[in-house]
Amino acid sequence: MKTKIFTLIVVITAILFTGCHSNEDIPNEDIPNKITPDANEITQINVYPSDYTAFSGETVDLKVEAVMSNGEIKSITEDAVISNTNDNFATVNNSSLVISNKALTGDSFNITVKYENFLEKIKIDIKNSLERNINAEGVITNSSSYDAVMNKERNLPSDYIPEDLVTLSVPTCLKNPEVNQLRIEASEALSKLFEGAKKDELKLIARSGYRSYNTQTSLYNGIVNKYGQDYADKYSAKPGQSEHQTGLAIDITADSVSLQLEDTFGDTEEGKWVKENAHKYGFIIRYPEGKESITGYEYEPWHLRYLGETLATKVYESGLTLEEYFKNN
Ligand code: DAL
Ligand code: ZN
Repeated sequence: MKTKIFTLIVVITAILFTGCHSNEDIPNEDIPNKITPDANEITQINVYPSDYTAFSGETVDLKVEAVMSNGEIKSITEDAVISNTNDNFATVNNSSLVISNKALTGDSFNITVKYENFLEKIKIDIKNSLERNINAEGVITNSSSYDAVMNKERNLPSDYIPEDLVTLSVPTCLKNPEVNQLRIEASEALSKLFEGAKKDELKLIARSGYRSYNTQTSLYNGIVNKYGQDYADKYSAKPGQSEHQTGLAIDITADSVSLQLEDTFGDTEEGKWVKENAHKYGFIIRYPEGKESITGYEYEPWHLRYLGETLATKVYESGLTLEEYFKNN
C-alpha cells in the first residue's frame, strides 16, 4: 500500500512540475474547432499563361482558373473581370490582352483579375520574343510593332503596308513619292534629327524611306541583274525582308557623298554626327561595321531604323545589334 501511495505522489509531482500532459489535459476552449472544407470553396485563383511576359503587338488570351478546397480546378475565365492599369500599353478585350505596338521591351504594366472576393494583381513585362513572334513559315506576326525584327530569316507578310505613312517634311533627293514617306512617328522624329544636325551646321538629305514589297522586288532584282546575286545579298534585302517595307527605316545622305549611299558617309562630318546622335531622336544604325555576320548585311552608315527614343538609346548604349539586344534583354 505504501508503495502505491509513493508511486501516485511521484506521478502527480511529475505532472505538476514538468508540464508534461497529453492533449486530453488541455481545456476544450483552447482547441480551435476543426473547419470541415466545403467542397465548393475557392482557395485561390490562377492566371495563365504564367510567365507574365508579352511582346509588342501580341494578343494574349488569358485563362483564369479557380483552385477549389477539395483540389478540383474550375475554369472561371468567362466570369473573371480583367482590368488593366495602363491603356497606353494594352487594352482588354474580354479575356484577351491586346498589347499596343508602342509597348516596347523594358516597359511593364499591371493587370488585375477579380473573381468574387479574390483579386490578383499581375505585373506584365514587355519583352520582344524573337522565337514567339514568327510563324512556321518564317513570317513575323508583329509587323507594325516599333520593335519588329526582320532579317534574312524573318519575313514581313508580302501584303503588309503600314497604315500611318506620311510624306516626309525633310529635304529629299528622289522623285518617287512612295520612298519619300515614313510612318508618322518616324517622320516626325526624322524632322527633329535633321533640325538637330542643322543646329550643328550639317545638312542631311533623305534618300529612301518606305518601300513597298513590289518596289523592293524591283530594286533587289535590278541589283542582281547588274552586280550578281552575291553582291545583291550583301547590300539589298530580298522582298519581304527589308525594314523599308515597315516605314520605319530611312537611308540618309549628304552633299559630301554626292547624295549617294556609300560607306565613306560614315567618315564624313554628317555621318559621324549621325553615328553619335541618331539614338537621341529614336534611330539606330541598323547595320554597323564589324557586325556583318550577325546582321547579314555589309556596313550601312546611311540606313537608320526607328525604334523610339527609349529603346534606340538602350540599344545604342548596349553596343549590340538589334538581334543581339533582343536575345540578351
Ligand atoms: N539595304 C537594306 C538591307 C535593305 O535593302 O533593306
Ligand atoms: Zn536602307
